[in-house]
Amino acid sequence: MAIKASFLDELRARTPIVSVIGRRVKLVRSGRHWKGCCPFHGEKTPSFYVYEDHFHCFGCGVHGDVITFVMQSEGQTFREAVETLAASVGMEVPSYQTEDSHRAAVHTRSLEEILSMAQKLWRDSLYHTPEGQEGLNYLLQRGLTHETLRSFGIGWASARRGHLIEVLQKQGISAENMAEAGLIRCDEAGHPKGELFWKRVIFPIHDHKGRLISFGGRIVGEGQPKYLNGPDTPLFSKRRVLFALDRVRAALRAPRTVGQKPHDVLVVEGYMDVIALHQAGFVGAVAPLGTALTSEQMEALWQIAPAPILCFDGDKAGRKAAIRAMEVALSHLQVERSLRICLLPEGEDPDSLLRQRVGNEGRDVMANLLAESLPLSEVIFPLMAAEFGNKPSPEERAALRHKLMQVVELIPDKVLRAEYRSTLLDHFYTHFRSFHKNSRKNGKDLKDIKEEYTSVHSVNPLRLVVEKPVFDQTRERQRLLLCLLLKYPALIPRVEEAFCTLELSYPFDEIRSLLLDFAAEVSVSKDLTLWEWISNQHAENIVQTVLQEKDFIAGMKRQREFQKEMEDEQNGLENASIQWWHLYGLLNRSRFEHEVEYIATHLFSQEVWDPEEWKRLQSLLEIREQLRCGDIDESATNASFLTDSSNDRTRHER
Ligand code: UTP
Ligand code: MN
Repeated sequence: MAIKASFLDELRARTPIVSVIGRRVKLVRSGRHWKGCCPFHGEKTPSFYVYEDHFHCFGCGVHGDVITFVMQSEGQTFREAVETLAASVGMEVPSYQTEDSHRAAVHTRSLEEILSMAQKLWRDSLYHTPEGQEGLNYLLQRGLTHETLRSFGIGWASARRGHLIEVLQKQGISAENMAEAGLIRCDEAGHPKGELFWKRVIFPIHDHKGRLISFGGRIVGEGQPKYLNGPDTPLFSKRRVLFALDRVRAALRAPRTVGQKPHDVLVVEGYMDVIALHQAGFVGAVAPLGTALTSEQMEALWQIAPAPILCFDGDKAGRKAAIRAMEVALSHLQVERSLRICLLPEGEDPDSLLRQRVGNEGRDVMANLLAESLPLSEVIFPLMAAEFGNKPSPEERAALRHKLMQVVELIPDKVLRAEYRSTLLDHFYTHFRSFHKNSRKNGKDLKDIKEEYTSVHSVNPLRLVVEKPVFDQTRERQRLLLCLLLKYPALIPRVEEAFCTLELSYPFDEIRSLLLDFAAEVSVSKDLTLWEWISNQHAENIVQTVLQEKDFIAGMKRQREFQKEMEDEQNGLENASIQWWHLYGLLNRSRFEHEVEYIATHLFSQEVWDPEEWKRLQSLLEIREQLRCGDIDESATNASFLTDSSNDRTRHER
C-alpha cells in the first residue's frame, strides 16, 4: 500500500527532525546544526549530527530522515514509523489504494459541483428575488459593498423550506449526494431530512487552494443560532480550514509595488470580521470557523507567515481564547515559527472597529493596533497574570509562577524553552518588583497605574505590564556591562569577540567603539588611562551618559592613582569578569552558550590545563547553569559593585 508522497512531505514538515530526535538524544547546537551522542552505537564524545532534514553519524555511519530515525530507534517498519509520527501530530495516514484514490477524486469533484450549484442558486436569490432583498439590505447596512459581496460570492438561502432540494433534484442530484456534500441534514437513521440553510445570508467557504468546500450562514438580525456552519464532509474539515486562506495566499503571492510593505497575516474570530478587513485593505485576514484555533490551522498559517498576528477581544473571554491559542502554539513553537498577539479594545471586534468610525479613522485604529501587536514571548506573562487580579497573595504568585513554568514545558525545542523560561521569570520578577515599588511609593495599586498608563498611551492593554520595565532592564544591563569595562579596561581584550557581536542600542554602541579602539590602540602602550584617552577623544559627554554613580566617575578620573592597585587586585578583575559574563548571558543567551562551549573545547584540547583558565571556565559553567534554570542572580544586575572600588575595603566586607 503506497503512501502518497505529498502526505509524507507534509508529515516530515510537521515532525521536525530535531524535536523528534531531541526527545531521545540530548542534542546541543553546533553551528547551524545539532549534535549529540549517537543512539545507535555506544560513544562518549558526540559524532551524531542532526541537520535540517536528516541525521548522520560520523562514528558508525547511520544516516536518514525523521522516518528512518523512528524505524531504527523503535524497530518499526516504514508504515509503522509513519503511523507513529502521524499520530504524534494528529494526522491520519490515508489507507486507500491507488484506484480508490482515483475514485475518491472523481467523487469529490462531483461534490464540489453540487456545492457550486447551490452557490449559484443562493447568489441569484440575493440579487434577483424579492425575499433576497432582505438579506441584501442587511449586508449593505452592515457596510459591505456590492463589490465585496460579489467577490466573496455571498448569497441568500430562501425562507421557502425545500426550495434548494427541489432545484438540485431537478438537476439530477440525489438526496444522499446532497447530504454528503453537507447541504442537508440526516435523521438518526441516516435518512436525509430538510436542508441546513434557509432564511440566512450565505458565505461560501473555500479551501486553501480556492476550491468550494462548504458554507456558513448568518441569520438576519437577532436569533439563534446566529451562525451555522456546514458539517464535516469528505471535502470539509472544520479543524483544518481557515476562512479566506485562499484569498490571503493569493494576496501574498501578488507582486507588491515598490515601497509597499508585505501584508500582515492576521487571525480574527468571525466571517464578518474577515470580510470587513479585506474590504478595508487588510487582505491578510483569516478566521477559524467558530472553534478555537487548532494545531492544523496554526501549521497552515506558518506555511505563509513566520509570526502571524492573532487578534482577540480584550475582554476576559478574549484573553482566555488567547491563552488557549498560545498553548497550542507553544507546543509547536520553533525558532522560526512564532506568533504575535493583538488585543482589541474590550467589546470590539475588527468589524465594529472598522465600521463605527468616520472615514478612514477605523482603518487607522486597526492599523495602529496591529502595529502594536506583541510577540508571543512578551504576552504570555501579562495574559496569565491578568487572571490573578491586582494584588496577588504570595500563594497566588507562587501559583502563577508555577503555571508559567508549566506552560514553558510545552515548548519542544530545548534552547527555545530555556529562552522562554528566563524571559518569563524576568517578567515575573520585574513585574512584582515594580509593582511593589510603585504601590509602596505612591500608594497606588496596579489598576491606578494601568488607568494612568492607558490614558496617556494608546489602547493596547498588554503594553502596560511588560514593555516598559523590560525595556529598561535590557538597557540597564547594557549600561552595567559597559560600566564594568570602563572600570576594568583590562577585561576588554578577554571579552572582545563576544562584546563585538552584542546588539547595543544608541549611545551604548558608540561607547563600545571607543572601548574597542582604546583596547586596540592604547592600553598596550599604557601611555594613557582610559579616562585620559576618552578626554583626548572629546568623548566625555557620551561616556557620562552611561555613568550614573558619582563615586564611580570620580574613581575613574583618578584612575591613574588606582591603576597600580587595580592591576594587583586580580580578584577584582575576576569578579568583574564573572559579572560581565552574567550580564552578557542575560542579554544574548545563545551567543553566551556558544562562547562557553568554545572555551571548554579549547581548554579540553590542551595537554596541560591552565588552572586560571580552568577556574574561569568553572565560573562560566556556573553562570550557564543559573541562566538555564532561570535563576537570575540579582547581584549581576545590581550596580553596587561598581562603587565599591578596590580601595574601599569597608564596603567590600559588608
Ligand atoms: P461572533 O458571535 O463573535 O460573531 O462569532 P461576529 O463575527 O462578531 O458576528 P456578527 O458581527 O454579529 O455578525 C464569531 C464566529 O464564531 C462562529 C462564526 O464562525 C462566527 O463568525 N459562530 C458564532 C458560530 O459558528 N455559531 C454561532 O452561533 C456564533
Ligand atoms: Mn461582529
